[in-house]
This record gives sequence, structure tokens and C-alpha cells, in this order.
Amino acid sequence: MKRIAVYPGSFDPVTNGHLDIVGRGASLFDELVVAVLQNTDKQAAWFSVDERQSMLKDVLSIYKNVRVDRFDGLLVDYVRSVGGCAIVRGLRAVSDFEYEFQMALMNRHLCEDVETLFLMPAEAYTYLSSRLVREVAQLGGSVSGLVPPQVEELLVERVGRNQPRKGNR
Ligand code: PNS
Repeated sequence: MKRIAVYPGSFDPVTNGHLDIVGRGASLFDELVVAVLQNTDKQAAWFSVDERQSMLKDVLSIYKNVRVDRFDGLLVDYVRSVGGCAIVRGLRAVSDFEYEFQMALMNRHLCEDVETLFLMPAEAYTYLSSRLVREVAQLGGSVSGLVPPQVEELLVERVGRNQPRKGNR
């Protein structure tokens, strides 16, 4: 039987830390579905779900057993709908633990059959988050090495587009 896992997240945008987790997850399962949350209440999203999905497809095309999708509603329902047996999440530091622990146990409460598997990224990515990447980009810092080059270009373009034009107040 094919062992399928789902790696869910906001991916706003995908970082090299996410890619590290995808690589580890893909080596453990027959198929890894990277699933972008659609019904996010994060008002501050920088990229639309379409844009995030397209960035992920672009950078993950090297993996034969990874596909990118989106989901709405309960994660466990989505995992069941794709025939998945596990949820993959990255765990960077102790600060992630409480939130992840709560989610994992709630998901287990909702569906006993789906396990949550925590994978630790390479040390170099333990401080990395999409939120910090957006903040650094917004403030004009370099995000090189933190996100894939295609994503860096899109971030720079997005920041430029949001700057007030000269002469505008
Ligand atoms: O990258 P993020 O924003 O930390 O990912 C959070 C995500 C998408 C994994 C989480 O918000 C989620 O699973 N949402 C789906 C709603 C759900 O199933 N909630 C109940 C179980 S916690």
C-alpha cells in the first residue's frame, strides 16, 4: 500500500526551511502532498493561495513523489480525502512546541488513524520563518539564502509594488 503524508501550511511564502522539511518528508513516504491552507484568517497574507501554490510547484518540481495542492476546512478531513496516513510538520525550536503539540493532539482527537510526524530542519534554518522573511524583505534587508531565488524575486517585486510612488503622499 502506498504511504502518503501531507505537509500542510500557509507557505506565505515558501522558505528554504520548508524545502528542507519537504526533502526529509519525501524520503520517508511514497508520496508527500504539500497542501496550502485556503481558508486562512491571516489578513496579512502577502501572496494569494494561487501564487503560493505556483511558487511551491515551481520549486518542488524536482521531486517525483511530491505534489502540491490546497485545502479548506479540517486538515484531517483533507488527509483522509487523499488517502494519507500522516501529517508532516517542521519543528524548529521549543517555541514551536506548544502550538504544534496542541494541533497534533487535536488532530489525533479528530482522527485516531492519522499520525503527526515532526521533522527538524537543518540547524541553519531553525530561526527561519515566513513571517520574518516578509518583515526583512519589507524593511529592505536581503532574503538571499533564506528563500529560493524565484521567491526572492517575487518578494522584491511585491515590496517594490507596495512602496509609495515618488510624488505620492
Ligand atoms: O504554516 P502554518 O500557518 O503554521 O500552518 C497551520 C495549519 C495550516 C497546519 C493549521 O492552521 C491547520 O491545520 N488548519 C486547518 C484547520 C484545522 O484542521 N483545525 C483543527 C486542528 S488544529
